[in-house]
Amino acid sequence: MRLFVTGGAGFMGSNFIRYVLTKYPEYEVVNFDKLTYAGNLENLRDMEHDKRYTFVKGDIADAKAVQQAMDKHRPDAILNYAAETHVDRSILDPDAFVRTEVIGTYTLLEAAKTFKNRRFVQISTDEVYGHVASGRTSETAMLAPRSPYSASKAGADLLVQAYHTTFGVPTILTRSCNFLGPYQFPEKFIPFFITNLIDGKSLPVYGDGKQSREYIYVDDHCAAIDLLLHEGTAGEIYNISSEKSQENLTVVKLLLKMFGKDESVVEHVADRPGHDRRYAPDAAKLRRELHWKPTVAFEEGLRRTVEWYREHEGWWRPLKSGVHLKYFQQQYGDR
Ligand code: NAD
Ligand code: TYD
Repeated sequence: MRLFVTGGAGFMGSNFIRYVLTKYPEYEVVNFDKLTYAGNLENLRDMEHDKRYTFVKGDIADAKAVQQAMDKHRPDAILNYAAETHVDRSILDPDAFVRTEVIGTYTLLEAAKTFKNRRFVQISTDEVYGHVASGRTSETAMLAPRSPYSASKAGADLLVQAYHTTFGVPTILTRSCNFLGPYQFPEKFIPFFITNLIDGKSLPVYGDGKQSREYIYVDDHCAAIDLLLHEGTAGEIYNISSEKSQENLTVVKLLLKMFGKDESVVEHVADRPGHDRRYAPDAAKLRRELHWKPTVAFEEGLRRTVEWYREHEGWWRPLKSGVHLKYFQQQYGDR
């Protein structure tokens, strides 16, 4: 099977490519990535000499580049991981989010119009359901995105569904909770705080820190996508989650314990505008239909992640200079 993985130089795309090439000796992977600030070929340095792996630099919103790569490689499946992914950046500069998420996904779907027995897997997010005050959101819940990031992802989701209904593209739409693990760009909450702790810096908690997220370890997400690629039903939507809620301050306390530090390094800063306080996707369908369940508990995943960042300073240190948090705080600090 030949897979066309977009965004394969990012956090989850690179973890998935390594997972697939390790698990399936006969599979080939084309990694199609624009190499934005978040794309990093270092993430797959160990795979680059594997004959089954090909890297193509390209933009998913560039129809010509996408078609050329598709004609050349004729993949059996497209897995669309490519996206702008940081909510804070989407507040400062939404342009690239709309372009990549909406136009990019549309461009890939156009290229997949001729797909019959092939697959189109869209990697989406629980953030499309917006803030969830109580209960859990199933796949049929109303979409109520509240940030430019989640609104753009929701736009892509709707196009995916429309291309299945109208043109019969065999799509699988996945909406996942947050991930944790190696190779996550150090602007996101967990790796940002881990690397700040390594450097003896403070931890900027947005608002009261009582917002919550659910997390799964990278390998558990890869296993879910592997299952859905092979056994998911075309046209269906699948939530992916541990269904274990973690308050931001709980995560901070666990990290402080792992680093032997006290709460004096915690700094409550201005809240993110429009901050979704809680996501809670219901993953019963994936558990019931495909017997998926997460295997790495949150604390164990966090311990592994801390260990990885401690051992890979050479990977994250050059990336941290690109973190625009300071700019974000300047813009919104007085709110
Ligand atoms: P990331 O930011 O680490 O990587 C994104 C990758 O996409 C980068 O390699 C980047 O170069 C590439 N890219 C961006 N725009 C592109 C374009 N126009 N054309 C081609 N490549 C482009 O992202 P991630 O955290 O690995 O997220 C992967 C996917 O998972 C995204 O679709 C995201 O919305 C979704 N998701 C992420 C999380 C999370 O916790 N990180 C949770 C749920 C869903
Ligand atoms: P983030 O990693 O940006 O993911 P999400 O897309 O789910 O918001 O943030 C996770 C949570 O951590 C979210 O509630 C915002 C919060 N957060 C902070 O409190 N401080 C920070 O510096 C960052 C980056 C995030």
